[in-house]
Amino acid sequence: MRVLVTGGAGFIGSHTTLGLLMQDKQGDQESYEVVVVDNFSNSSPESLKRVMEITGKTVEYHDLDLRNKSAVKEFFDSQKQKFDAVVHFAALKAVGESVQKPLEYYENNLTGALNLLECMRESGCKAIVFSSSATVYGNATKDCDKITEDAPISATNPYGRTKLFIEEILRDLCKSDKDWKAINLRYFNPVGAHESGRIGEDPAGIPNNLMPYVSKVAVGKLEYLTVHGNDYPTPDGTGVRDYIHVMDLAEGHIAAIKKLSSLQGEITVNLGTGRGYSVVEMVEAMRKASGAEIPYKIGPRREGDVAMLCASTEKAKRELGWVAKKNLEDMCNDLWRWQSANPNGYRQ
Ligand code: NAD
Ligand code: WQD
Repeated sequence: MRVLVTGGAGFIGSHTTLGLLMQDKQGDQESYEVVVVDNFSNSSPESLKRVMEITGKTVEYHDLDLRNKSAVKEFFDSQKQKFDAVVHFAALKAVGESVQKPLEYYENNLTGALNLLECMRESGCKAIVFSSSATVYGNATKDCDKITEDAPISATNPYGRTKLFIEEILRDLCKSDKDWKAINLRYFNPVGAHESGRIGEDPAGIPNNLMPYVSKVAVGKLEYLTVHGNDYPTPDGTGVRDYIHVMDLAEGHIAAIKKLSSLQGEITVNLGTGRGYSVVEMVEAMRKASGAEIPYKIGPRREGDVAMLCASTEKAKRELGWVAKKNLEDMCNDLWRWQSANPNGYRQ
């Protein structure tokens, strides 16, 4: 199968590309040829070089900005064979930044998706797996333990709205033309790294998300963690989230790509473990994995945060035959292997 991965040099894209290339070694009947496009605005080709080194396989990659429609068209026209499916990761993803720069977020994420979909249609490829996010559950999650895909959706920031809009665009597209197939995957909190420790998450500047921040404290790059509130109605008062190992997430995408052949229209599926951990539990798990002290101070709640957000995993099991296999220890051990061997990420 020939798969186009947009944003394939990024955190989740590089791990999914690796997972696709390794499928035949894991006894899969299908083997995957992967082509990556990325404008490297939040990544570097180094991740793909390392994917090639780990897998011993070649990944064709192109420096392409999805906002540039004529360049996207040119790219599709240059392909000798059409793609069987597209996995669309390319997006800007920082919630806080999206509030400061809404136009940049709408332009990048929406124009990028529209250009991609138009060029896919023209090329005759009408099958897509889209990176959505649990952020589309917005504030509707306050009293919900395990959230199901039919829960009301809303967004509390421009980033989340781009995910919501693209999900709806894909639903409209599938209604308009029965040949289209789309899977909206709503990820919960992706963490960890490939077990080799050669590829991982490499946020520019000071991380916004918990585990990249915690791992930078563990490696001595940051002094202490600020815990955003300890007065939530959770067992220890700190926020609870459904953290999922990035390689499990990669497997979820591969299951979704396989599902496309039998799918009619659009489906939306959560990718999480169904198990929540608090901020303090995550810090403790990372302390064990790293052997390092991880000092933290309690700060005020962060605006827009909910107390608890965990996935119902039933639909993923039913529709994709997929369940997460890795546990918290795997997430922290693999994250530590990556972070300790690459304290400056890909920028050595
Ligand atoms: P990432 O920033 O590491 O990867 C995104 C990639 O897209 C980057 O390599 C970036 O350079 C590229 N890109 C951005 N705009 C582009 C454009 N206009 N043209 C071409 N390439 C472009 O982020 P990630 O964590 O790997 O996230 C991948 C996807 O998953 C994103 O759509 C994100 O919104 C979604 N998601 C991420 C999380 C998370 O916590 N990491 C959670 C839910 C959903
Ligand atoms: C997790 C927990 C914080 C940092 C975000 C996006 C969501 C999705 C995943 C893209 C919360 C606490 C964090 C810190 C802390 N991304 N925390 N100190 O907010 O659940 O989800 O990433 O789609 O859209 O909103 O993840 O890692 O930021 O926070 O105490 O320095 O850690 O309050 O309870 P979140 P997170």
